[in-house]
Amino acid sequence: MNIVLIGKNGQLGWEIQRSLSPLGKVTALGRDQLNVSDYKAVQSILKELKPNLIINASAYTEVDQAETEIELATKINSVAPGIMAEIAHSSHAVFIHYSTDYVFDGQKTTPYLEEDQTNPLNIYGKSKLMGEENIKQVGDAYFIFRTSWVYSLRGNSFVNKVLGWSRKSQNLKIVSNQVGSPTWARLLAETTSLVIATCTMDLLDNVRERRGVYHLAGSGYTSRYQWAQRILANDPNRAEQLVQTVEPVPSEEFPTPATRPLFSALNCEKIEKIFKLRLPDWEESLRLAMDGS
Ligand SMILES: NC(=O)c1ccc[n+]([C@@H]2O[C@H](COP(=O)([O-])OP(=O)(O)OC[C@H]3O[C@@H](n4cnc5c(N)ncnc54)[C@H](OP(=O)(O)O)[C@@H]3O)[C@@H](O)[C@H]2O)c1
Repeated sequence: MNIVLIGKNGQLGWEIQRSLSPLGKVTALGRDQLNVSDYKAVQSILKELKPNLIINASAYTEVDQAETEIELATKINSVAPGIMAEIAHSSHAVFIHYSTDYVFDGQKTTPYLEEDQTNPLNIYGKSKLMGEENIKQVGDAYFIFRTSWVYSLRGNSFVNKVLGWSRKSQNLKIVSNQVGSPTWARLLAETTSLVIATCTMDLLDNVRERRGVYHLAGSGYTSRYQWAQRILANDPNRAEQLVQTVEPVPSEEFPTPATRPLFSALNCEKIEKIFKLRLPDWEESLRLAMDGS
């Protein structure tokens, strides 16, 4: 299989480059090799590489900055995925893309299903939803994996932020009224590869038959406050922590340019059922991700 991965240097891109390698020849492109807001470059590179599978791990993910960089967020999150889907369709390739829990408004009290009403509260969520719609309009052989609260031990994730704060402050204030499903980037990557592996016999037809949106996140849900407490408890270098108290606070205490949904947990039963997978509990994944031994 000839695979092109776009966005190789993000949290997900870095992991997926590794998890995909047993499935085929992976050409992994970072922003330096392919800037997805340059639509002509997207077309010419994909036409030249002729992949059977295109995976888009690139995205504009600065949720607050998106409120003022609407045009750029739209180019990267809405228009570019539609163009990639078009190229996949015209060249008989499969297209895999990722979306977000922020397509929902957080009014539900039980985990969101794929068919639940979307109603994004911020520009990032709107731009990602428009990306989904552009891909669906092309149709053909695609999967859109909606995920949430992605973290890795590399880069600027919530996990690393909490660890960083714990070395600087004795008292931490963490938002307790935002609830979601933390998702380890490695789990997202490995599950993507497992899904592809179940379809490889006749990739295009298998994906066409099962195409659509799937929720793919850590199982269960938690508040940011409880997540932070589990991060501190799993810290392999706890002796370095200065923190003594963690205080739950409402999100209003930290006003941000973008409004976030208060409840955005995802129900992942569809992907588990169709691909016969088990998504581990978010706490189990966090423990494995932070296992320093
Ligand atoms: N992070 C979350 O909490 C979260 C939650 C829900 C859904 N998601 C979705 O999950 C997917 C993966 O997210 P992630 O956490 O891995 O994001 P990430 O770490 O921010 O990575 C995004 C990648 O996209 C690249 N990129 C940005 N603009 C680009 C452009 N114009 N051309 C080419 N590449 C560009 C970035 O390049 P540089 O490395 O050069 O900056 C970066 O490598 C995305 O679709 C995201 O919307 C994420």
